[in-house]
Amino acid sequence: MEEKTSFLNKTINLESPNKNIVPITTSINNDGKLSIGGCSLEDLVKRYESPLYILDEITLRNSCRAYKKALEKYYPGESLPIYASKANSSIFMSNLIASEGFGLDAVSEGELLTALKGGVKNEKIVFHGNNKSNKEIEFAVQQNIKIIVDNDHDLDRLEKISNSLNHDLEIMIRFTPGIECHTHEYIRTGSFDSKFGFGIENLNNLFEVISNKKHLKLIGLHAHIGSQIFELEPHKDLGEIMINVILEAKKFGHDIKELNVGGGLGIKYTEDDDPPSIDEWVKTISLSVIEACKKNRLNLPILMCEPGRSIVSTAGVTVYKIGSFKEIPGIRTYLSVDGGMSDNPRPITYQSNYSACLVSNPLNNSSRKKYTVAGKHCESGDVLFKELELANCKTGDLICVFGTGAYNNSMSSNYNRIPRPAAVIVSNSEAEIIQRRESPHDLLKYDVLPDRFIKQS
Ligand SMILES: Cc1ncc(COP(=O)(O)O)c(C=O)c1O
Repeated sequence: MEEKTSFLNKTINLESPNKNIVPITTSINNDGKLSIGGCSLEDLVKRYESPLYILDEITLRNSCRAYKKALEKYYPGESLPIYASKANSSIFMSNLIASEGFGLDAVSEGELLTALKGGVKNEKIVFHGNNKSNKEIEFAVQQNIKIIVDNDHDLDRLEKISNSLNHDLEIMIRFTPGIECHTHEYIRTGSFDSKFGFGIENLNNLFEVISNKKHLKLIGLHAHIGSQIFELEPHKDLGEIMINVILEAKKFGHDIKELNVGGGLGIKYTEDDDPPSIDEWVKTISLSVIEACKKNRLNLPILMCEPGRSIVSTAGVTVYKIGSFKEIPGIRTYLSVDGGMSDNPRPITYQSNYSACLVSNPLNNSSRKKYTVAGKHCESGDVLFKELELANCKTGDLICVFGTGAYNNSMSSNYNRIPRPAAVIVSNSEAEIIQRRESPHDLLKYDVLPDRFIKQS
């Protein structure tokens, strides 16, 4: 078999973790086995069982610091990076990003509560959503959390609340800027088919409507153009478009002070991916906003961005244990692991690709074979890798899948009544639990058998 350099042999980018496949502290111990944060993955599984979500603290903090540093370097105005908590929401993550000076974006009462419990300051939280409930809106207003108005329904309810309280409410509005991003290409469209936000073509009407609302003060604009984006051009265009919208709003008497450009910077899941660095991304947006402001003699707004994936994805790995094998001669060999679509729904949902290796032989230093890595769920499509080349392996060996920090745990389910994995944070050769493993008994907690059925049985 041809010799290939493993992705584990590549130089690590400390400044922009999204450009690496593996967490910054990944290493191979003297015994040839994989470790992260100074912790042997084999030992972690002995202690916490599998599947196991692992987050590397240094990678997380370096990602946060890269955003802060770049904003300080390129944007002379005020700025605030905001963590998109949908990527991985937990009390731990909220606490970590707050300690790095980040704000947080939430899209439900659950994410709001998690952020508050984790110590994110109320004034640094923004609340999104295309169908917020009355209860969620009331909760956000009570907590002094800024609401991003997505549609007329939001606007009506906020008007009622602000009138009944007889005090002003500051709001931001979300709009669709007509930039449509696919992963490796983008198009500019007149209007954008999205369930989120106001169409750019309706904004003047909206500005007029808001100027007649006694207690609603429009202070900010928000747009988010997509996720796992590898091009810089769409965000360059976005900065300019948003400044033009500020100018339009001015005509209706609105003084927009805050500009939130959303998230979207991609990460390297496989050798084929080459995302821009965090520095390049922030530079592009900052320069585009600065230039458009200069051209239009506008004061620099407070610049906010909402990265999710590029903060947490590369910091996370999932370790699975290999169970059964099934060889179909001439077709494929299935290798099944003890997790799958319930802890990582991205492959079955988006056909997403990842990189992985054996914990005991990360460099694949022996005869290799191609496997189809299947999950344990009762679903033929529950396949984590259609084709993964691995060294000789057997039942009981561990596989480490990289880049699973974002949209894995937060999108997990209990399909087939499979309990969610535990999660640990690793740092300085120590591992600490940040999410306890569910048990099958936990899953019965909310089931109710009505009395009359109990009598029948
Ligand atoms: C409004 C909003 N902001 C931020 C993000 C984070 O995007 P990403 O994880 O790609 O950085 C998302 C993700 O979908 C989003 O919908």
